[in-house]
Amino acid sequence: MNVVHVLNGPNLNLLGTREPGTYGTLTLADIEARLAARCQAGGISLLFRQSNHEGDLVTWIQEAGAAGEPVILNAGAYTHTSIALRDAIAGSGAKVIEVHLSNVHAREDFRHRSTISAVAAGVILGFGALSYDLALEALIAQSKKTKS
Ligand code: DQA
Repeated sequence: MNVVHVLNGPNLNLLGTREPGTYGTLTLADIEARLAARCQAGGISLLFRQSNHEGDLVTWIQEAGAAGEPVILNAGAYTHTSIALRDAIAGSGAKVIEVHLSNVHAREDFRHRSTISAVAAGVILGFGALSYDLALEALIAQSKKTKS
C-alpha cells in the first residue's frame, strides 16, 4: 500500500470542542498528525481530507477507487442517510474501512443504520480516535499479507 485516503464528513472539523463527552477532546488535526506519523514510518502517503459536503466525499471516494487506493471513511451523519456515498463505494470499487469515534449502536436509533457498512471492507467503531489508528493498522496488515 503506497497511499491511503482518510476522508472525514460533516462536523468532524469541529472535533476537540464538539460534544467532547461523546467524541473526545482530540482535534481532527491531532488525529491527522498521529496517522501521518504512522504512515511516514511505513513509507505510505497520507491524503487526509474533511468536507461538510456530501458531493466532495463522493468525488474523493471515486478518485480513490479509480486509483485502486484504500479509504478510511468517517462519513459522520451521512453514514446514516447517504445512498450517494454507498453508490460511490460500490460503483468505484474503492476499498473502504468505515470508522466512527463513538459506538453508534449504543446511541440513538437513527445512528444504528449505516448505508455504507454493506459495501465496506470492514467497520471499526467506538474507540475514539483509536478507531482511525486501528483501521490504518488493518490496511497495513492486509497489504503485507497480499504481498507475501
Ligand atoms: C460519527 C457518528 C455519527 O453518528 C455522527 O453523526 C458523527 C460522528 C462518529 O465518528 O462517531 O458525526 O461518525
